[in-house]
Amino acid sequence: MRSYSLIAPAKINLYLEILGARPDGYHELAMVLQSIDLADQIDLHPISTDTFRVRCDHPQVPRDKSNLAVRAAQLMAAQFPKAFAQYGGVEITIHKRIPIAAGLAGGSTDAAAVLVGIDLLWKLGLTQSELQELGAQLGSDVPFCVVGGTAIATARGDQLSPLPSLEQIYVVLAKYRSLHVSTAWAYQTYRQQFGGSYVNDKQGLISRAHAVHSGPIVRAINNKDIVQIGQRLHNDLERVVLPTYPQVLQLREAFQRNGVLGTMMSGSGPTVFALCESYAQAQQLQEKVKAAFPDSDLDLWVTRLSNTGIQVASR
Ligand code: C5P
Repeated sequence: MRSYSLIAPAKINLYLEILGARPDGYHELAMVLQSIDLADQIDLHPISTDTFRVRCDHPQVPRDKSNLAVRAAQLMAAQFPKAFAQYGGVEITIHKRIPIAAGLAGGSTDAAAVLVGIDLLWKLGLTQSELQELGAQLGSDVPFCVVGGTAIATARGDQLSPLPSLEQIYVVLAKYRSLHVSTAWAYQTYRQQFGGSYVNDKQGLISRAHAVHSGPIVRAINNKDIVQIGQRLHNDLERVVLPTYPQVLQLREAFQRNGVLGTMMSGSGPTVFALCESYAQAQQLQEKVKAAFPDSDLDLWVTRLSNTGIQVASR
């Protein structure tokens, strides 16, 4: 049987607004999600036993079912028991490039790649929206990771509307290697501090979620106005993460001082990104920030916005 290698891109949030609480304990969100070129590679090899095994070159990536990629494989086995009985288990090799617990959807994109890859391995012929529905059972960002590109995401983050692609913008990412932020902690803390201002009525939530479709950042994306895109970045979770982690705020301020198009924390952080007009500007910025923060724990990447989700690299 064939093996597959898949490319699983990270995402950044160009916009993240927390509208209110949901009955399922999650939050109603209005976001703009954006894929970037920084990606993991996921290799799937059929194995003769009826198990799912994980190999990974990163010491902090779990090998058991706390890894979302394993849960994705188990979900496929539960949904398609005949195919699982016919084709058997899979060895999942994760070549980790995306930093973990970073606000870049690294775990979610690996899980999305496993869904797409097992669909191919087991010749299921699922549609993109069927894969996204399965993804929503695993995590709020997984449906976006399947399709990628640029999209408005509402509800739990799993209701998607595609936007025009924006490949011509370069990105510098900065993250302290040993600093991890739990997404659940960030949302919980936000709820404790700002839950009083949540929209509580259903109609109010619908109209706020709708408003993002005609809001300034979406208008800027539709017009491909990169200056406006940079100026309209927003992330409500900065209100809890930046005061707790001043070193993240310092990185953001350093990006700001260097005249970038815009800078913001991604998702629940702690990764900070800056948007740049050219590769040369992004490289210069990376060098400047490296020199300003001579800390061996600080990682920086130059990458670019991308218009793709999970891609098959080879088979
Ligand atoms: O969906 P996912 O497992 O990625 O979410 C991680 C955590 O982030 C959840 O456990 C929840 O605490 C928080 N979250 C939320 N509302 C969302 C998405 C995530 O409160 N819409």
